[in-house]
Amino acid sequence: MALNDPVTRLKILVFLLAGFPLAWLVVLAINSQLGANPVEFITHFTGTWTLVGLMLTLTVTPLRQLTGYAHLLRIRRMLGLFTFFYASLHFITYIWLDQFFDLHAIIKDVYKRPFITVGFIAYLLLIPLAVTSSNAMIRRLSAKRWQSLHRLVYVIAILGVIHYWWLVKKDIRQPLIYAGILTILLGWRVIRRQRAFYKSR
Ligand code: HEM
Repeated sequence: MALNDPVTRLKILVFLLAGFPLAWLVVLAINSQLGANPVEFITHFTGTWTLVGLMLTLTVTPLRQLTGYAHLLRIRRMLGLFTFFYASLHFITYIWLDQFFDLHAIIKDVYKRPFITVGFIAYLLLIPLAVTSSNAMIRRLSAKRWQSLHRLVYVIAILGVIHYWWLVKKDIRQPLIYAGILTILLGWRVIRRQRAFYKSR
């Protein structure tokens, strides 16, 4: 790994930035600064970083198209895997620290708070994307099929925003911001596709 290679440096920088929230959480935990309800704090923290991760992953393609810097695509996989990692922490926090693996309690809670099902579906959909993220898997599936499968990320991001919007009780400003960002990111793709379609006719 050549450190003077700009792509390697970019990858290291993104790795450090993406790992920073976890390091921050660990420092807060060690210093007992997770507030009065640490489980709630960790749930909110990991949920927020999952959603931020999804938005950042979806930003890579438009950024590459705008700048023409093709190497940006090489950080997309890393961002996606970090997103999956934070989503897994979020899920484990709920199942383990919040519900103590009590299936009965989980069913009752999901019945009471249906937004959890939406988050759960989003998490389930993330699993095949994480599993097929390697180059070997791209080759095995063929680039076309891999691309179709990875379009699931759009559905996942929409479900993530719905999950958040649904759980917020009064102040919907934050989910509204995520919904706005997602509309821009998906709208960009729709417009590009339409333009390409009309050009090819
Ligand atoms: C892609 C998947 C997911 C995303 C993007 C996501 C995102 C979020 C966000 C942004 C929050 C709120 C954070 C805040 O208030 O600052 C949250 C809260 C929460 N999420 Fe998720 N989540 C996902 C999956 C899941 C899953 C799989 C579960 C459980 C099975 C889950 C259960 C919860 C719970 C219990 C809360 C806290 C609700 C409350 O405070 O009342 N989420 N999530």
